[in-house]
Amino acid sequence: MPAPEIALTERFQSAFASAFGPEYADADPIIRPSQFADFQCNAAMGLAKRLGRKPRDIAADILAAVDLGGIAETPEIAGPGFLNIRLRTEWIAEQAGQLAADPRLGAPVPEHADTVVIDYSAPNVAKEMHVGHLRTTVVGDSIARTLEKLGHSVIRQNHIGDWGTPFGMLIEHLLEVGEDSAEAELLKTDPNAFYQAARATFDAGGDFADRARKRVATLQSGDAESLRIWTQLVELSKQYFHRIYDMLGVTLTDADLAGESTYNDQLETVCRDLEADGIATISDGALCVFPEGFTGRDEQPLPLIIRKSDGGYGYATTDLAAVRHRVGDLGADRIAYVVGSAQELHFQMVFTASREAGWLPAEVDAQHVKIGSVLGEDGKILRTRSGASLRLMALLEEAVATARTVIDELRPDLPESERVQIAHDIGIGAVKYADLSTAHDSDYTFDLDRMLALTGNTAPYLQYAVARIRSISRKAEAQGIVASASPRVENDAERALALQLLDFGPTLAAVGAAYEPHRLCAYLFSLAQAFTGFYDASPILQESDEQLRSGRLALAQLTETVLVEGLDALGVNAPQQM
Ligand code: ARG
Repeated sequence: MPAPEIALTERFQSAFASAFGPEYADADPIIRPSQFADFQCNAAMGLAKRLGRKPRDIAADILAAVDLGGIAETPEIAGPGFLNIRLRTEWIAEQAGQLAADPRLGAPVPEHADTVVIDYSAPNVAKEMHVGHLRTTVVGDSIARTLEKLGHSVIRQNHIGDWGTPFGMLIEHLLEVGEDSAEAELLKTDPNAFYQAARATFDAGGDFADRARKRVATLQSGDAESLRIWTQLVELSKQYFHRIYDMLGVTLTDADLAGESTYNDQLETVCRDLEADGIATISDGALCVFPEGFTGRDEQPLPLIIRKSDGGYGYATTDLAAVRHRVGDLGADRIAYVVGSAQELHFQMVFTASREAGWLPAEVDAQHVKIGSVLGEDGKILRTRSGASLRLMALLEEAVATARTVIDELRPDLPESERVQIAHDIGIGAVKYADLSTAHDSDYTFDLDRMLALTGNTAPYLQYAVARIRSISRKAEAQGIVASASPRVENDAERALALQLLDFGPTLAAVGAAYEPHRLCAYLFSLAQAFTGFYDASPILQESDEQLRSGRLALAQLTETVLVEGLDALGVNAPQQM
């Protein structure tokens, strides 16, 4: 809850207690932002029902009992019994001063520092990372950054797809093209091309397909030579992932890799334990869990297959082992799975099965942070014109190149090397921000021009706001203007900006609790708009009064700090100038 709401709630609740009795001490004062004042207290209607009296009389009683001294002017009663509240400007100024001195920028210290396991990115080895993986990577990384800023301890888990039947085919293909060949190098630059080539040879049938099938078996039986080549495939793919992560400025490292294969030696025990506990049963030769509450079309219980009739384990088995590891070994208080919406049923079944097995205790929260699709202009999943899935690296390079034309036009005066850096920050920032600013479970249309626009809810708009404040600061410094310790808050535009600033900490906390980075985007967008309103109304450098000038400069710089911190929680860089 934002600082003003917290302060007002306390005062109103003690008024309720003294006016109506102690049993009213925790009634909700229903404080809401209002278009007629700063806030409204809408409690009178509800209390009137409880007390069997008229709302306006209740409102008058509240008014008589409430002491908002220091925080707000005396409220006015409006309509059926609303209380319109205008905060005292001095109070806002004082709060803004505290904010400026607070390294946490108003972010509440959590009651309990949680250990949060975040499963995100999770591309598949020897396959292209597609735009879907881009989105899980960017959203997951932002959630990780946000939770760390709040003071939780985050364990990143990159559950890459590095095991399973395709590896027979991939190993045989690598052997066929030669481990040191140019084709093998493709794994680092265009893994999908490697995968497609392997697939084509496989689909042609014959000898190769037979060898590929045998290879799966030898690999799974632990054959040293097969494992060596498998390791090489994984190594080359990792290099590819890290090129993408570096380009994106994502915090994932090798230490966060915990691919499907890391659970191999636990799958047998997972099955054995579930069977021994009566949670899993054999059905049509396969070992299955039938988690409570999941039925198919014909009302038959839906199985989560954990050991196929041929003895092989699957995706679900690995995820059950992963839950056990994350809770039992990593000590998770919460687990967030940032994965495409299509896997919703899988995760709901895995969570329920894990709860039934006692591996996911009630006090540990598990959430599937559902990720929607990225669509092309035709409203279908984004693909190239030829229909192939889009190469992620090519997409990012295009974004940076387009940003380069924007900055070349905006700032031809800047040295080339600087424009290169700025174009990178803008291009990558724009793509990431577009992923983040849409609710994570909604689809959105990939439109580079819109993402790169300098107006609207985009990264460049926010980056430009930061650059503008930095430019003001540079000029101020050159003119010997020093910001005052506390921001000035007097006129309406300053008040509106300061009130926005006070909302930062609570917004960050809400984003960390609900895993919703788009709320932070919406917040930063309104903050930047409030800054524009302030800057239009309150000149800084042109102001002749020294105190005004310094106080406004401090308000502008606090805005910069909050914008930069918010963008950092999203994983977006703010360039020094634009
Ligand atoms: N590799 C999977 C995919 O590309 C995502 C894995 C998500 N994480 C998990 N624990 N299942 O669809």
